[in-house]
Amino acid sequence: MVRSFVNFEDLNKDEVLEVIDYAFYLKKNPFSDKSLQNKSIGLIFMKPSTRTRLSFEVGVYQMGGQPIYILGSSTQLSRGEDVKDTARVMSRYLDGIVIRTYSHQEVEDLAKYGSIPVINALTDYQHPCQVLADLMTIKEKFGKLEGLKLAYIGDGNNMANTLLIACAMVGINIAIATPPMYEPNSKALQKALEFAKETNVSIEITNNPQEAVKNADVLYTDVWVSMGQEGEKDKKQVFKGFTIDKNLLKLANKNAIVMHCLPAHKGEEIMEDVFEEFSDVIFEEAENRLHAQKSLMSFLFK
Ligand code: CP
Ligand code: NVA
Repeated sequence: MVRSFVNFEDLNKDEVLEVIDYAFYLKKNPFSDKSLQNKSIGLIFMKPSTRTRLSFEVGVYQMGGQPIYILGSSTQLSRGEDVKDTARVMSRYLDGIVIRTYSHQEVEDLAKYGSIPVINALTDYQHPCQVLADLMTIKEKFGKLEGLKLAYIGDGNNMANTLLIACAMVGINIAIATPPMYEPNSKALQKALEFAKETNVSIEITNNPQEAVKNADVLYTDVWVSMGQEGEKDKKQVFKGFTIDKNLLKLANKNAIVMHCLPAHKGEEIMEDVFEEFSDVIFEEAENRLHAQKSLMSFLFK
């Protein structure tokens, strides 16, 4: 059966843990897995990217495959060819598709109408590859996932949605603090609440960052203005108080770490001194994109 990774919850908890464990193995043995030998993987980007593009291109190469970078605006998709036909055409040439775009539904459709695995490299709704690497990083730092608490401070965007679902699935307590009207997606919250019934984690959605970071082991943030929202009104006023700074950090657990998916807007969602204090974690997190995605591809293509 063809498996895709469009939503984080397309993998179950055991599969997520398996992918993370194998990612640690690949981190030590980067050229050991050749699951993509004789395979061509299309990487479609309708939005900019530094980390995701590079980590997938390098990852496919290390696994013996051919990565094909496809700038969205250079395809017929940008001239209105529908996703249903694009999926059927691409399935005739490629062995897998990695796609970053705006509409989550388009990625669902690509997987539905195509016959090859599709990996979501970020949509407006989710960023599941980032969160796989995030969980790997948390496990690397704490030696475990279950029972920890993650506090996400900022915009209730694709990162917040995916972290909410993923933490609830693997047993990390999660608090999300956003300004009113910027809370995470209600469908993501619903999914998380379903997982929480099994894992017994606590889920807190609040407008109070000080409350959210209490007892937190991980503080997480992301930009206030996501790709595609550049035209929105200035959010700086609305997000005042939702910056990870020294004062907020003091309210978390003593050994708490700070994470950021990058790119960062220092002075907005995170202060530069805090960013630098945790730069080892943040850049390890970025590196782990490579290992986690290789492990994911090995899982989907095996
Ligand atoms: N974190 C992340 O996805 O980075 P890029 O936008 O650079 O790919
Ligand atoms: N929320 C951000 C994440 C970037 C990796 C965005 O969608 O632009």
